[in-house]
Amino acid sequence: MIEATVSAAPQPILRADYRGPSFFIDRVDLRFELGEDLSRVHATLSLRRADGVPDDAPLVLDGEALKLLHLALDGRTLGADDYALTATTLTIPGRGLAAAFELRSVVEIRPQDNTELSGLYRSSGNFCTQCEAEGFRRITYFLDRPDVMARYSVTLEAERARYPVLLANGNRVAAGELADGRHFARWDDPFPKPSYLFALVAGDLRCLPGEFTTRSGRAVRLEIWVEPENIDRCEHALRSLIKSMRWDEQAFGREYDLDIYMIVAVNDFNMGAMENKGLNIFNAKYVLARPDTATDDDYQAIEQVIAHEYFHNWSGNRVTCRDWFQLTLKEGLTVLRDRLFSRDMRSAAVARISEVLGLRTAQFAEDRGPMAHPIRPESYIEMNNFYTTTVYEKGAEVIGMLRLLLGPDGFRRGMDLYFDRHDGQAVTCDDFLAAMADASGRDLAQFSRWYSQVGTPIVRARGEHDPDARTFTLTLEQAPPHGRHDAALLHIPIAVGLLAPAADGARALPLQLADEPAPGATTRVLELRAANQRFTFVGVDAPPAASLLRGFSAPVELEVPRSDDELALLMASDPDPFSRWDAGQELGRRALLRLADDAAAGRPLALDPRFVAACARVLADPHLDGSLKALALTLPGERILGQHQEVVAVDELHTARQFAVRALAEALREPLQALYAATAPGPYSIEPAEVDRRRLRNLALGYLVALGEPQTVALAQAQFAAADNMSDAQEALACLIDHGGPARDAALAAFHGRWCGDPLVLDKWFALQAMSSHADTLARVLELATHPDFNLGNPNRARALLGTFGARNQFHFHSRCGRGYALLADKVIELDPHNASMAARLVAAFNPWRRFDAARQQAMRAQLERIAGQPGLSRAVHEIVARALAPV
Ligand code: PHE
Ligand code: ZN
Repeated sequence: MIEATVSAAPQPILRADYRGPSFFIDRVDLRFELGEDLSRVHATLSLRRADGVPDDAPLVLDGEALKLLHLALDGRTLGADDYALTATTLTIPGRGLAAAFELRSVVEIRPQDNTELSGLYRSSGNFCTQCEAEGFRRITYFLDRPDVMARYSVTLEAERARYPVLLANGNRVAAGELADGRHFARWDDPFPKPSYLFALVAGDLRCLPGEFTTRSGRAVRLEIWVEPENIDRCEHALRSLIKSMRWDEQAFGREYDLDIYMIVAVNDFNMGAMENKGLNIFNAKYVLARPDTATDDDYQAIEQVIAHEYFHNWSGNRVTCRDWFQLTLKEGLTVLRDRLFSRDMRSAAVARISEVLGLRTAQFAEDRGPMAHPIRPESYIEMNNFYTTTVYEKGAEVIGMLRLLLGPDGFRRGMDLYFDRHDGQAVTCDDFLAAMADASGRDLAQFSRWYSQVGTPIVRARGEHDPDARTFTLTLEQAPPHGRHDAALLHIPIAVGLLAPAADGARALPLQLADEPAPGATTRVLELRAANQRFTFVGVDAPPAASLLRGFSAPVELEVPRSDDELALLMASDPDPFSRWDAGQELGRRALLRLADDAAAGRPLALDPRFVAACARVLADPHLDGSLKALALTLPGERILGQHQEVVAVDELHTARQFAVRALAEALREPLQALYAATAPGPYSIEPAEVDRRRLRNLALGYLVALGEPQTVALAQAQFAAADNMSDAQEALACLIDHGGPARDAALAAFHGRWCGDPLVLDKWFALQAMSSHADTLARVLELATHPDFNLGNPNRARALLGTFGARNQFHFHSRCGRGYALLADKVIELDPHNASMAARLVAAFNPWRRFDAARQQAMRAQLERIAGQPGLSRAVHEIVARALAPV
């Protein structure tokens, strides 16, 4: 008997299976007839067989959700017998194909029904596209893979009244009128590009124009395109673009290459933004800003995302990825570039701390869950699931380590060689490493393991002082990530400094290793390559405090046996601001974890007075800027605390943190009140000094309102009523939401009344409620999910309520009753048939399920199984859920 295994389960694609394309496409000519019901895409492709590919190899084009109307090969119309169609491919047998030929196709698509927001779709009545990773195949039949690079010419035709603006990549070369009130524009992109960088926009949009002169003297026209009512919110985006262009010239010697650079803001977008050649399409959230609608964080995020997409023009577009496994080649590198830019634009220490906070909260958690993968994944079912914090943020950390090892100049030489060598090519992470190695003469073989290693490595450090020899020996040991035993030894840069306790705090010691002739700088990068290494510093009179992993020099979990007193010393006087913050976080974490244990054991709670004293010193420190103080005085969040527990103690962590906030507020009440009073706002400005002032003042407000006293709640009410900017309004509103009661209801109603016509601001209204620590948050989130303004189909709104709740409210999402889990699963099931990649992002909230207690595990598993059992589940959600349920 023959056993037939019929499996509906989607099959993974493996990195090891990569083969070059059998055909290349050199030129693409597209004509779009855009209409209200139907749109037609006419494509003419110039194809050629790749060298060495046999004559009978068929041409297999990708295509999804397309209705084929016409197909012609070198001018000859093909009949149904000449090709084969499946739901995802169009195949033409090899026999009929010359070495080079022209293929014309006409397909019909329905952009207005495209809810996946991938391919050609509509947002607020306008047409726009999103093609990364595999959206172009939803526009026309194509070799939709990044190693096929072609020159595009694109003609758009649409009704002039509804779609006065017609945009595509490159330069506009023609435009004019057509019959029946229609018009057209033709665009030509001189740079060969992969299909994922294709873009078009047609709509009723307004433009804020600008100009940039490159350092070689070329004038570039800049255009920010938005819906008419948003035209007064574009200046910050334009300024950010100009800063980015200048910075890339100065920092990396990279100039812009086309005569025009356009950014279009759309309201419906699955991600943050997209670097399409010459025509970036952005989630409106990362373009629009006015002081009364956008917070200081929004302004910074906009500057950083604009920079990120701009920097892709070199790291991504001029040099692109050979295949999607190489995604970190462009994303890790571009994140590093946008981070270096952001550190230059504002306080480098504050920027670095925020980067590390994000990494530890999200990426470290990903590394410990079912979606753990190397920065260069080995397999995927749905590529959209791999636009992850690991590929992006850990990828950036890996390149940051390379920069630390090579030094800024060596790194720059490597980048120059990489761009020179590979301009116009689709390449791999190994090509990038080879350029770095060749330019610097360094052997990066061991370093390259960072690209295949899964999980967060653990580094253990131990120090020993020898008073007779006057030496301090630091032993560093690398251990495999949690739950993994097969990890290879990595090449890990560990930046260290030594502090000698002194009367007024501590003194940084010039460092001299045993085999060196003289002391050098006070920070030094040690290279850990073996399982175990000892570094002996000489000339150390007294036991020093070791400041380790300065600047977070490697994405590792550091374990050091050190006393609270040593941490308090580092927190008070480490000259490295990152390590100073980090020491404070570790001290706070210890105090909070002890409180959580006390809560679990039913012991009375008391916040460690040494920690309170350390916080008081930070608050009083005249040398720290406001943003740094605010970061230092923000207690570690419940999610980070949970990572340091065997089983996440949801309720006890919440109790402990709430208790600690109130205890700190009581202990520091006077200085906090004085600070709040002394930092009253003047005229609004986004200058760094003003941002610092607002951050610190709002931190103080948060603590004071946590006291729950009528006078302190009144401070928040007054600030909310008087605020002329969204930072102050939002912080006050957040405090009032946490406080609850009539003050909350009044503020929420006022905010909704004022902003209900403004989608981005209304998102904040949803997100703040979803984030709240107030006891009734779950009930309110359940209600908000049925609010008339809630719209699951809009990614920003779905993220504001459900994304925020699932990923940022550990206590309420993981409420014992399980209703939070049921809500999330319901919405995933509802969304999946419409927007699978968004549904897959939401369902990831269940990924850490095995880290919780048995009852919660059981409840989450039941929801995962319910989702897995849905008929017709998408590949995207299937992949996340199957990984989550797979036995460990
Ligand atoms: N490439 C985009 C970026 O990081 C992200 C993106 C991926 C956007 C997929 C849309 C779809 O800059
Ligand atoms: Zn990117």
